Amino acid sequence: MRAAVVGGSGFTGGELCRLVDGHPDFELVQATSREYENKTVGHAHPNLRHLDLRFSDPADLESVDVLFAATPHGVSMQHIDAFQDAADTVVDLSADFRLPEASAYDEYYDGHDRPELLADAEYALPELNRDNLPGATLIAAGGCNATASILGLLPLFEADILSGDERVVIDVKVGSSEGGASGGKAASHAERSGVVRPYAPTGHRHEAEISEYLGIDVSFTVHAVDMIRGASATCHVFPDSPVSKGDLWGAYRGSYEDEPFVRLASGGGGVYRYPEPKAVAGSNFAEVGFELDAANKRLVVFSAIDNMMKGSAGQAVHAANIAYGLDETAGLEHTGLHPVGAP
Ligand SMILES: NC(=O)c1ccc[n+]([C@@H]2O[C@H](COP(=O)([O-])OP(=O)(O)OC[C@H]3O[C@@H](n4cnc5c(N)ncnc54)[C@H](OP(=O)(O)O)[C@@H]3O)[C@@H](O)[C@H]2O)c1
Repeated sequence: MRAAVVGGSGFTGGELCRLVDGHPDFELVQATSREYENKTVGHAHPNLRHLDLRFSDPADLESVDVLFAATPHGVSMQHIDAFQDAADTVVDLSADFRLPEASAYDEYYDGHDRPELLADAEYALPELNRDNLPGATLIAAGGCNATASILGLLPLFEADILSGDERVVIDVKVGSSEGGASGGKAASHAERSGVVRPYAPTGHRHEAEISEYLGIDVSFTVHAVDMIRGASATCHVFPDSPVSKGDLWGAYRGSYEDEPFVRLASGGGGVYRYPEPKAVAGSNFAEVGFELDAANKRLVVFSAIDNMMKGSAGQAVHAANIAYGLDETAGLEHTGLHPVGAP
């Protein structure tokens, strides 16, 4: 199947080029960039120097089966007609089609240009809603921080440990690649190196996504930390009724034992006893774990992903695999590296 990556020179676009190149059923026929037009893909992504492909103008889209849009917020909603003319299936990595209600875009973003299309889009976080994805033609890959948070909390809802009325506080630590290749002053090495910086203490846009898909209001804070890749969510949960460790193991095993990309890491031996972005860097795995603080009627849940894999490009390919009825894990089977420096 022919595949194109619009926004191919960016961070998630580079990951998509890497994944599509290694995918047994997809062929990368186009990657776009205005800045790097006519330059090789390897010019922007040195890990892809072997690719015999040059960036092209996003105004000249090839006819493909699947188009991955790895562009900033607002671009897909503006160009969706051209994307859909060029491709049978559009998988968008931005937030443009993630929320079903236009009112949420008024509240959390700057409104929406094409609200009539929101009902046609399928949100993609396969562990949550894979049944919606077969045959989908407009797919909105779940956001990175929302994915980490939802994967951590989902089993508590599926096992009825949470109903949606409880207090949930989420703190996510994120790496610098979340900000994209264009970065900005705060992303420069001198400013970013060594930080643990409260970056979105309140009002982060992913709050809307978590609330929408888990049906719960959350208190959500994001810190920028000294990683390149990774999102690590710590969720403090205060259930109404007592919960045992056995209940928690039952809930998390029940939700995830058949999931190809979720690993439980919950207080075992060794150095990496809980979810750790370093342990999943470069892979499509999410790690999820928990601890019980019975004295304080608190659960603490941990979740770690690579924001550019499970949090974006990997999630997009996973969704496309399901949409086309392919093996879900096709092109995504590789594990990360260990040991490895700060990812
Ligand atoms: N980074 C993450 O961890 C992450 C995780 C989840 C979701 N996302 C979402 O994924 C999207 C891409 O993120 P990113 O981090 O990869 O961004 P990025 O590194 O800044 O890359 C953006 C890409 O979009 C292209 N682009 C920008 N404006 C365009 C336009 N008007 N028309 C066509 N192409 C345009 C850029 O190339 P040219 O300007 O050269 O054309 C570039 O290739 C964003 O919506 C982001 O919110 C990112």
